[in-house]
Amino acid sequence: MSWPPAIPCILQRYRPPGVGQPKGALDAAGRRALREKSTLRSVLREGYGDGAVRTKLRHVPDLVELDRDHPGFRDPVYRARRNHIAELALAYKSGDPLPNVPYTAEEQGVWRTALEHLAPMHQTRACAEYLAGYPKLGFTAGAIPSFTEVNARLAPLTGFRLEPVAGLVTPRQFMERLADRVFLATQYMRHHSAPLYTPEPDVVHELVGHGPLLADPTFAELNRLFGEVTLRADEVLVEKLIRLYWYALEFGVYGKPGDYRVVGAGLLSSFGELGRFAESANLRPFDIDVIAETPFDPTDYQGVLFVAESSERIVRDLRAFLTAM
Ligand SMILES: [Fe+2]
Repeated sequence: MSWPPAIPCILQRYRPPGVGQPKGALDAAGRRALREKSTLRSVLREGYGDGAVRTKLRHVPDLVELDRDHPGFRDPVYRARRNHIAELALAYKSGDPLPNVPYTAEEQGVWRTALEHLAPMHQTRACAEYLAGYPKLGFTAGAIPSFTEVNARLAPLTGFRLEPVAGLVTPRQFMERLADRVFLATQYMRHHSAPLYTPEPDVVHELVGHGPLLADPTFAELNRLFGEVTLRADEVLVEKLIRLYWYALEFGVYGKPGDYRVVGAGLLSSFGELGRFAESANLRPFDIDVIAETPFDPTDYQGVLFVAESSERIVRDLRAFLTAM
């Protein structure tokens, strides 16, 4: 069975505003208005049910616009849920208590299905660092962990912590926060009708894709280095950094035919692409200079992947590039 691709997070931040993203950055007044709207929604729901919420707030435009071919496009309950989770993220200020999302039974079911399908593939395709980091985060198919719970395990290992984001940050903003060991992540869940597919980075991608390698000191330090270099990079260099991050930390592969191993979070969280990349992609030698000049298409399975002989080679070459900047 062929599944459409998952699109990892840095891509979401690369898309134009208005597509799968909140419509605009909010100032303090905007955040206050959102909080009031969120409160109103809660009051209406508790007092009168979801129907009242839809009736009273129908004049309020969606915060998150979905593509017409998104699995949840015609699902008003899902769209309202996405708006609510975006509101929580937009209202969040770094340093505040994390706005943990109480996930619904339906969302828990999607998480369970995704993990049960991905886990066996990880055993044969994931890199050693990923497999070592995964159990340290305590993920189980039985419950979606909150960011608070993940951070309690992650921070003592590498100093990294997750902070919620609604989607509307640029690649530069995303990478600059890595310098402080902050990984901006989305909290919403993909649509229940397609539990193995997401057109955007969701909580499965962020936690299952990125989490275990953020728990690895070597890969965590690489993430931090990306951030440190981004802080002083001009736009030309930022473009190179985005491509390096994409082809290594989202889609990096090493090994040889018959025994490829993956370090990239995009592949590690995509059931479809993880199962077929070796046959469907043009596998090219891992070359930092070539990668830095190679654009990518974030809207489909990757046509080109760069394959190193080892994870040490990926780490060594990335570190050499970043420390020379
Ligand atoms: Fe990602």
